Parts: sequence; structure tokens; C-alpha cells
Amino acid sequence: MRFLAILPVLLSTAALILTTLCLFAGSCPGCMEDYALVTLNTSRIGQNVLNTTSSESSNPFISFIDNVTNSIESEINEGLNSFAKELGLHDFYSAHILDFCEGFYTPTDIPNATVSKSDIRKNVTDCSNRTAMYHFDPQQTLQLELNNSGNSNINLTDLNWPDEIDAGLKALRIASQAMFVLYCIAIAFAGVAFLAALASIFFTGRISSFINVLIDLLAFLAIGIASAIATAIAVKAADVINHYGNEIGVSAQRGGKFLVSTWVATGVMFVASLVWCFDCIAGRKDKSRRYKSESGYS
Ligand SMILES: *[C@@H]1O[C@H](CO)[C@@H](O)[C@H](O)[C@H]1NC(C)=O
Ligand SMILES: *[C@@H]1O[C@H](CO)[C@@H](O)[C@H](O)[C@H]1NC(C)=O
Ligand SMILES: *[C@@H]1O[C@H](CO)[C@@H](O)[C@H](O)[C@H]1NC(C)=O
Ligand SMILES: *[C@@H]1O[C@H](CO)[C@@H](O)[C@H](O)[C@H]1NC(C)=O
Ligand SMILES: *[C@@H]1O[C@H](CO)[C@@H](O)[C@H](O)[C@H]1NC(C)=O
Ligand SMILES: *[C@@H]1O[C@H](CO)[C@@H](O)[C@H](O)[C@H]1NC(C)=O
Ligand SMILES: *[C@@H]1O[C@H](CO)[C@@H](O)[C@H](O)[C@H]1NC(C)=O
Ligand SMILES: *[C@@H]1O[C@H](CO)[C@@H](O)[C@H](O)[C@H]1NC(C)=O
Repeated sequence: MRFLAILPVLLSTAALILTTLCLFAGSCPGCMEDYALVTLNTSRIGQNVLNTTSSESSNPFISFIDNVTNSIESEINEGLNSFAKELGLHDFYSAHILDFCEGFYTPTDIPNATVSKSDIRKNVTDCSNRTAMYHFDPQQTLQLELNNSGNSNINLTDLNWPDEIDAGLKALRIASQAMFVLYCIAIAFAGVAFLAALASIFFTGRISSFINVLIDLLAFLAIGIASAIATAIAVKAADVINHYGNEIGVSAQRGGKFLVSTWVATGVMFVASLVWCFDCIAGRKDKSRRYKSESGYS
């Protein structure tokens, strides 16, 4: 029995659980919703169009909003605070590794005197089908929702949707495919590391510690690279959307909890490989001491 091996068993279990959660977060409406890679906030989409081009009535979006505001005149001032809802869009879209989810902020989309920012919850209504090598394309998603809600005469470009967002996110397409593959590899290695550590409780010996060091280092590398790519994607996507989307009332937030858990998984795997390194070295000292005592040196 090697009791030291229990520590790496626990550590690789933690890494396995965390990476699996990162990969499958958002698989069903409301599951691990906080663990999104990036959340797109469209609750105020189009608001600025109304201010800047209100004279230009050829824009179908303007006439649509005119229609809406006329039909609910009493609410012109405050009531129409979610253009998104009127247009058949959702308040937020959260991109996960395998799919995206959408829904509404509750009780309200912007903080007011009685509802503070921390009181606002996400109410997920739907998630897309899970797809390997998935890539979130907000332009297509939003246009599809406009179409489906009977507003197909409104083109997203009428809301001044910036092309730069599409260009910026398209540049991340390869990276997000690589991220998916690496998370799969990382989960596989974390699983193997768990099994190898479990076996090493019973099979003592330096060879088994050495094999564990190798497996754990590979798992550490895979999770580390996957985390680095995920971080780059989340940061870059949020930056692009906030930079260009600000004009049209669209903002994005990178997923803090996702990034924390993926980096914790990386750290945990690193500690597991350190434990095996220690076991390897300590085992050698042990052995040489035993050898010396057996051959009568000490
Ligand atoms: C839009 O116009 C309203 C009043 O007409 C003003 O209160 C609001 O600040 C404007 N919003 C922007 C983003 O300019
Ligand atoms: C606005 O309302 C009028 C009459 O109700 C309708 O003919 C027109 O198509 C509507 N425009 C939009 C953009 O919905
Ligand atoms: C959504 O975006 C709007 C406009 O950018 C902002 O006022 C609001 O606070 C955001 N809501 C949440 C829940 O982040
Ligand atoms: C804040 O928003 C909530 C939900 O829409 C509403 O019930 C409340 O009256 C608002 N408070 C203020 C001060 O506007
Ligand atoms: C969330 O949305 C569903 C369906 O749109 C609604 O029935 C439910 O009341 C909402 N939950 C909250 C807390 O607003
Ligand atoms: C999602 O999956 C269901 C059943 O598997 C299928 O009927 C539906 O068409 C799919 N939706 C999309 C957008 O692919
Ligand atoms: C939306 O409808 C227009 C025509 O009404 C069509 O050209 C476009 O491809 C549709 N967009 C999506 C994403 O389905
Ligand atoms: C929206 O407008 C752009 C340019 O004006 C055009 O290239 C695109 O095909 C339009 N999309 C739809 C769905 O009508």
C-alpha cells in the first residue's frame, strides 16, 4: 500500500471534475449557466440607433420601434427598456464550449434604485443543440431570431451591427476548435491520471511513480494549453464586442467562474505531478538506504 498515492487520486479527481464541468457547462437550460465562456448582453440593442438616426425613417427598425412605441404610448418613457424583447431577441446570449444559451434578465435588465446589479439573475429559456467544434456566431443567431419572430424585414445592419464584431469573432474560429479538442484530450489525460494514481496505491515501485509523473505532466500540459486558449478567446471576444458593440448598446462579459475553474484544474494537475516527482525521489532515497542497510554499509 502506498498512502501517498491517495493525494494524487484526489487531485486528479478534482481536475477531472473541473474540466468536465468546463466542457459540459450549459448543456441544458440553466445548468452551470454561470460557467459561460463569454456572455453577450443585448438587452439594450438598438437603443442608440433611435437617438442618432431618428429622422431617418427609411430604416425598418425605426419604423418598427415607432409602431411599438405608438401602440404602448403610456410606456414610451420607461417601459420600452428592452428593445431586445420587442424585436423577438433575448436579453443575453451565453457562449459555452459546446453550445450557447439564451434568456432574459430578471427581474429587470438594468439596475435601478431598488434592484442592484447583484440582484439581477439570468433566466435561461433555451440552449442550442450541443455540437462538437461549435463556434458562436452572434450575427447569424440574432438575425435568425429576428426572422423567426416575424421581423425578417429588419436586417441586423439596420441596427448598425458592426462588421468588426463578426470579423473579430471569425478570427477566433480556429482557436475555439482547438480549444474543444484540447479539452477532450485534457479530460482523457485527467481520467488516465486518476486511474494510474488509483492503481499506484497498490502497485508500489519507482517505475509506477515515474509513469505517473509522465501522465500527470501531460495532463497538466493539455489542461494548461486548453485554459490558455480559452482565456485568450474569452478576453479577445469580450474586448471586440465591448469595443465595437458599445455604439449599438451591446456589451459582453468574459466568464470569470469558467476561467477560475479551468486554471484551478491546471494548478491541481501540476501539484499532482509534483507529488509524484517527490514520490519518485523519496522512493530512490528509500531504496538506496535500504540497499545500504542490506549490504551492511550503515
Ligand atoms: C438617448 O436620448 C435620450 C433622450 O432623448 C437620452 O436621455 C439618452 O441619454 C440618449 N442615449 C444615448 C446613448 O445617447
Ligand atoms: C407599422 O404599423 C403599420 C400599421 O399598423 C403596418 O402597416 C406596418 O407594416 C408596421 N411597420 C412595421 C415596421 O412593423
Ligand atoms: C446590459 O447592458 C446594459 C447596456 O450596456 C447595461 O446597462 C446593463 O447593466 C447590462 N445588464 C447586465 C445584467 O449586465
Ligand atoms: C426597478 O425595477 C423593478 C423591476 O422592473 C421595478 O419593479 C421597480 O419599481 C424599479 N424601481 C425603480 C425605483 O424604478
Ligand atoms: C423564467 O422564465 C420562465 C419562462 O419564460 C418564466 O415562467 C419564469 O417565471 C421565469 N423565472 C423568473 C425567476 O423570472
Ligand atoms: C436539435 O436537435 C433536435 C433533435 O435532436 C432536432 O430536431 C433539431 O432540429 C435540432 N436543432 C438544430 C438547430 O439543429
Ligand atoms: C432571414 O431572412 C432573410 C430574408 O427574409 C434571409 O435572406 C436570411 O437568410 C435569413 N437569415 C437567417 C439567419 O436565416
Ligand atoms: C443585410 O444587409 C447586408 C448589407 O446591407 C446584406 O449584405 C445582407 O445580405 C442582409 N441580410 C439580410 C438577412 O437581409
